Amino acid sequence: MNAQLPDQHGRTKRKLRISLTDRCNFRCTYCMPEHPTWLPRAQLLSGPELLRLAGLFIDQGITQIRLTGGEPLLRPDLLPLVDELQGLRSRGLERISMTTNASRMAPVASRLVQAGIDDFNVSLDAIDADTFKNMTGRGIAPVLEGIQALQDAGASVKLNAVVVRGQNEHQVLPLLEWSMQQGLPLRYIEYMPLDAPGHWQRESVVGEDDILAAIGVAHDVEKLPRGADPASPYQIDGHFPLGIISTVTHPFCASCDRLRITATGELYTCLFSRLGTPLGVRMRAGDDDQAIVHLLRRAVWNKEPGYASTPGPVDRPVLMHAMGG
Ligand code: 5AD
Ligand code: SF4
Repeated sequence: MNAQLPDQHGRTKRKLRISLTDRCNFRCTYCMPEHPTWLPRAQLLSGPELLRLAGLFIDQGITQIRLTGGEPLLRPDLLPLVDELQGLRSRGLERISMTTNASRMAPVASRLVQAGIDDFNVSLDAIDADTFKNMTGRGIAPVLEGIQALQDAGASVKLNAVVVRGQNEHQVLPLLEWSMQQGLPLRYIEYMPLDAPGHWQRESVVGEDDILAAIGVAHDVEKLPRGADPASPYQIDGHFPLGIISTVTHPFCASCDRLRITATGELYTCLFSRLGTPLGVRMRAGDDDQAIVHLLRRAVWNKEPGYASTPGPVDRPVLMHAMGG
């Protein structure tokens, strides 16, 4: 039986997002600086370090791991790592997911599915090629190929789209209709004040209500009861699942069950935390498992209430591409 990872506000942590690398081959305007500087490779946790840390979180009550980046497919040892993660299922791990831009997915999709990734979230902010290019700095074709390869491999796939005013709000309806044709559940994400260039403005946020209004002109939209997921759930035309993650207009901090570790093993208990707990550095300094567990439990217990209580941009050195979304 797993332990529990509670915080001081009565929330229990079940989900851990692990950034495998801060590197990304995309340049999404809402995430990346134009000229990013990457962490020195030697600072990234090695495969064995990452597995050790993940194992400790699972022993403490984490049941779901999501591999993120940057772009996780840029990690050269990704496949062996996914293989090794399977070993943690006997310690309580129930689900391994991945968030990816899918541009390099086509050649590895079936191997990742076979290796035991349970589901994939693919970022797709537009279905129009020019809009996609303007937002991500890259072409859409390899992404669509990657999505197709995942579907061919029988993977469970969801699409994520960040909506930014003046960039892709005109894509809300076309993207929904494309996702419906493909049978791929879609989630819209409100633009959060975490973009590396610091361009975020409240006016750039296309809120949940705006998104619903754009869809409502052409489709029947039914609100469903909220579950454990951060997305507000809707059903479109009586069958299609749509989610909206409205961190800015309807923060869901009160039910947050997730934690994040960066590629260097820094624990962030909130996407908006100003400071992390350097578990990777402590492991390298020789701390034993008991010491690391003590540090991580203390950090989780001290988790702040979240965005709902302190809205607005956060000033900190670790940027979104190093945090994994
Ligand atoms: N606002 C909202 N979501 C963001 N992501 C990255 N930056 C932002 C931001 N400023 C999310 C995207 C992407 C994931 C990796 O991180 O949804 O799919
Ligand atoms: Fe890369 Fe994802 Fe950030 Fe886009 S949102 S730059 S794909 S890490």
